[in-house]
Amino acid sequence: MRKFAIAAAAAIAFGATAAEADVVKVGVIGPFSGPFAIQGKNFKAGIDAYIAEHGNKIGDNTVEIVYRDVPQADPAQSKALAQELVVKEKVQYLAGFYFTPDAMAVTPLLKQANVPMVVMNAATSSIVAKSPYVVRVSFTTWQTSTPIAQVALDLGVKKVITVVSDYGPGVDAENAFKAAFTKAGGEVVQAIRMPLSTNDFSPIMQRVKDSGAQGVFAFLPSGPTTLGFMKAYADNGLGKAGVRLFAPGDLTQESDLPALGEAAAGALTTFHYALSHDSDENRRFVENARKAIGNPAELSFPSVGAYDGMHVIYRMIEATGGRQDAEKAVEAVKGLSWESPRGPVSIDPESRHITQNIYLREVARAEDGSYYNKEIRTFEKQGDPGLAAQ
Ligand code: PHB
Repeated sequence: MRKFAIAAAAAIAFGATAAEADVVKVGVIGPFSGPFAIQGKNFKAGIDAYIAEHGNKIGDNTVEIVYRDVPQADPAQSKALAQELVVKEKVQYLAGFYFTPDAMAVTPLLKQANVPMVVMNAATSSIVAKSPYVVRVSFTTWQTSTPIAQVALDLGVKKVITVVSDYGPGVDAENAFKAAFTKAGGEVVQAIRMPLSTNDFSPIMQRVKDSGAQGVFAFLPSGPTTLGFMKAYADNGLGKAGVRLFAPGDLTQESDLPALGEAAAGALTTFHYALSHDSDENRRFVENARKAIGNPAELSFPSVGAYDGMHVIYRMIEATGGRQDAEKAVEAVKGLSWESPRGPVSIDPESRHITQNIYLREVARAEDGSYYNKEIRTFEKQGDPGLAAQ
């Protein structure tokens, strides 16, 4: 009787371990509440759209997503949650990361935890250099801010003032724009860095007017920040005063366009993704992601980062047969190329950052009166100029 009990207990224990080994957990950290909640909802919509299309099984393994909320840039909270995901939840992958500081804080944990990190948004160039286990499928602000310098010059704008949020991706954007603009003969007359918490942009707009610049280059992280900045640009009459705006596409994300309306019309931005991108892959993605997010007007670019991030994670799970082996997983996606909803992409084997087209877009009015980012020019196969510059 006692022997039987022990054998049964062992069988149950063994059975449980075998079943658990078939579940591969992915921990996703992002802003799921608070002022940036729509950006986090877009992570989830992209992940849900991917799973709706491809299922949650890879061979014998079942993927399970575990979400953790970091409402605003908060490296300490991000690190603590990543630790909890690794130690308690036993996630094999970490993904998400909307804000740079949240990604940076987690990179020192990866090696010991034997966990790859798939960055679905955070856009400071140096993140990939912090650990060999980081793969990024979003963009960098170097990548998105470099081509707009030539666009400004082509329009005869030679004197520009730069305005950026004073943290990683903002400093990178400022440096990227300045490098490309001055190299091609332009002049940056002033460079303003604002605290990330800035929400009154009128004084900034006054400084832009006073600078005598013909154009303003701006970067802020998408969310209430960009909405406020774009409104202030219009309300303070900068466009009417002839000061043109040049920016990466964070400033005209689709989910901000209904609130901005005419205030954004004509804005020129460069970015890796527009919801209007003309391809079958994108039409299928947008349809599924709209279903997933519930309110279609909330769909925006973090969804495509999350969708492509899942593509990379699925390939990693395939390559490792569901076993935890971060090095093998990362090796397996170096050089990987595929057709994303944004266009053709690949993972650069050296940097582990995504190579992709960057599109010039104009905010245009559709027949139904809504506004959208219309792609008007393509800068093909852009790598990350930021890594070379460091
Ligand atoms: C970042 O913190 O890296 C970040 C956040 C939002 C953006 C771009 C970059 O739109």
